[in-house]
Amino acid sequence: MGWYDADIERVIITEDELRAKVSELAKQVATDYESVDGLLLVCVLKGAVMFMADFSRALAAAGGPAVELEFMAVSSYGQGTTSSGVVRIIKDLDRDIAGKHVIVIEDIVDSGLTLSWLLRYLESRSAKSVDVVALFRKPDAIKVPVPVKYVGFDIPNEFVVGYGLDYSERYREVPFVGILHPDVYSR
Ligand code: XMP
Ligand code: MG
Repeated sequence: MGWYDADIERVIITEDELRAKVSELAKQVATDYESVDGLLLVCVLKGAVMFMADFSRALAAAGGPAVELEFMAVSSYGQGTTSSGVVRIIKDLDRDIAGKHVIVIEDIVDSGLTLSWLLRYLESRSAKSVDVVALFRKPDAIKVPVPVKYVGFDIPNEFVVGYGLDYSERYREVPFVGILHPDVYSR
């Protein structure tokens, strides 16, 4: 329940489903990274911010290693809903990642352009290892193959909002993931 209710045409993933999936992903990562000493989570702002907050705590609850949190902001989208393919760094890492195990915390892999660029960037900064946890993926939208080790949900090729994902900077606080009513786009 919220101001946004009338704008949501359809809920794709409920709050409960999100919570269960985040915890499942955290358990997998906790198992795979059991023997790793120190792990750096790199959140891709702003879309992955809710996921970062929930995932990092779920990872600790699942017995995962100690983590440090880093944030990067890149832009491949303007105000609209289609990828420009041009990635720009808005906010870079605050520190050196050389020799560190890095996990990229992504909200959604759409064309794959942003992530593919980001992986090359992190590797060029000499990370010891780089894996990706993406909460959502749109298999039908992929333009470049990109290795995503952990995926939460494969979703249809439609624009979604909620749980960090926005349309024109709104709807990030929506606690579930859904599709907007078409009227919203013509306002
Ligand atoms: P690419 O196409 O480079 O895009 O894989 C990845 C980034 O684009 C944003 N994105 C979305 N944001 N609803 C959103 O609110 C969507 O359906 C959507 N699809 C892609 C997102 O920031 C992601 O990191
Ligand atoms: Mg966005």
